[in-house]
Parts: sequence; C-alpha cells; structure tokens
Amino acid sequence: MPDSLFSVANQVVLVSGGSRGIGRAIADGFAQRSARVIITGRDSESLHQTAAELSAGSEFPVIPMVCDVACPKQIEILVEKVVEACGQIDTLINVAGVNRRKPALEVTEEDYDFVMDINLKGAFLLSKAVGRVMVEQESGSQINIASLNSDRPFNDVLPYAMSKMGMSTMTRVLAIEWGPLGVRVNALAPGFILTDLTKKLWANQELQEWGLTNTPLQRMGQPEDMVGTAVFLASEASRFMTGQVLFVDGGFTAGRNWPIPAGGGQ
Ligand code: NAI
Repeated sequence: MPDSLFSVANQVVLVSGGSRGIGRAIADGFAQRSARVIITGRDSESLHQTAAELSAGSEFPVIPMVCDVACPKQIEILVEKVVEACGQIDTLINVAGVNRRKPALEVTEEDYDFVMDINLKGAFLLSKAVGRVMVEQESGSQINIASLNSDRPFNDVLPYAMSKMGMSTMTRVLAIEWGPLGVRVNALAPGFILTDLTKKLWANQELQEWGLTNTPLQRMGQPEDMVGTAVFLASEASRFMTGQVLFVDGGFTAGRNWPIPAGGGQ
C-alpha cells in the first residue's frame, strides 16, 4: 500500500534546470510518483526532448516551459504561465546552476555576473515569484539545490561558492519569513555527483581517488541519488522541517579520512 506520508501525487512541481543532470533526475522522480511536473531550461529543443522522454510511463505528461533564470522578465512570465496552466504550485525546486573554475585572481567581472545571475539572483527571483503564489495558497515547499560549498567552500570556484553560500542563507531567511505563512523552504546540498557539469573534472584519476577516500560510502553520487531527499522535502513527511540544508553527499561532510598508520599512532 502506498504511504501517503511520503506521497507527492497530484502535486504541481516546478523544476528549474530540468533538462539534464540532477534537475532531470528529480523531475523524473516526481513524475514517476504521479506529480504534475513542469521543467524549465534555456534551450527549447533539449527541454522538449527531455519532457517527452520523462512523460513516457508517467501518469501526467511532463510540461516543458522555456525560461532563462538569468532573465527576470522570463521568470515572471513562467510563473504566470504555470499558474494559468495548473492553478497552483505546490513545490518549487531551484536547480538551475553553472560553474566556472579558475583562481580568484583570474575571475573576471563577467565570470562573476554569469555565475551569480543564474545561481543566486535567478534562484532568488524564482523563489520570490513562486513564493507569492505559495503565500497566497498558504501552502508550499521550496527546495533549493545548494552544494558542499554552501558550508565548506573549495578553492578555485569563488563565485560559485559565494552563490551557494548565499543560497543556504536565502533558504534560512525565507524559511523564517514564510514559515508563519504556511510555506516551507529547505535546501538539498549534493556531494560529488557525476553530471555534465562535473564529468570532465572527475575524469582526473588523482582527484577521483581523493574524492573516494573522503567519501565514506565509497562512490561518486548519481543524479538519481537526490530523488529520495527531494521527495521527502516536498512531502508531508517533512512537514515540521524548514530552513534546513540537508547534505546528500555519501558522508563527505561527516569528517576527513586521514592516513593514520594501522593500529593507531601514538
Ligand atoms: P548540469 O549542468 O548537468 O545541469 C544544470 C541545469 O541547469 C541544466 O538543465 C541547464 O540547462 C540548467 N541551466 C543552466 N543555466 C540556466 C539558466 N540560465 N536558466 C535555466 N536553466 C539553466 O549540472 P548538475 O550537475 O545537474 O547541477 C544541477 C545543480 O546542482 C546546480 O545548481 C549545481 O550547482 C548543483 N550541484 C551539483 C553538484 C554536482 O556534483 N553535479 C554538486 C553540488 C551542487
């Protein structure tokens, strides 16, 4: 018997950056559980292709809607269109994100704006536009896709780390403001997940060994590993949770593995 505590059936779920990677896997996870899913992205062709693939076998067709989250006007139009088509928005998943890796001294203003406009400003404007709808409904759950950088930043990804740290702060502040109005806001922080964004990086053998040594569950994550936590955060099962950043990282943030000699050193 299906457990209604974890059900997302019939929810209207809006996923930004849903054409591939983590967003696609999460959108699929909700569609497979009978949610009415809308995916957004910049490129109409790949978005329609993904929507068609995800719709096969799901109860409701997955709806593609083009929206560049770096474009405030497009966000307003998107949210209007979703409400017009579906009447409500139960869950927002802010996934759209980009990265440019380089040392801080080489980061240009253009690099900074590119990353910030999508990862933080875009996420904020989408949260706010959907937040308006949810506050009016007096219900809703927002899930921001944060990062390990939301807590402990890495070198050579300064604008990205700043954006993800900003996202965890945004999650907490919105939770405080909207909790009394019936809207929950949490973040899901993935560990090292193999996607188009990161595949090239993890092809480096030395880096892969470092990652695995420091990941207690001893493997890289897959986009599908994010589905359970996203469904949990959207469902009744998490109804008393808001303002939290959940790390789904194979244990990476639990601590460090150090090469202490067998038998323990004195
Ligand atoms: P990806 O590159 O495979 O997917 C990113 C998605 O965002 C794509 O669908 C892309 O079309 C969309 N997107 C990018 N710019 C956009 C814009 N201006 N407007 C609308 N959509 C846009 O990357 P991945 O790995 O799936 O990342 C998804 C999210 O997860 C990002 O926010 C990323 O920062 C975060 N993340 C990823 C980790 C990883 O190891 N892959 C680790 C921690 C966080």
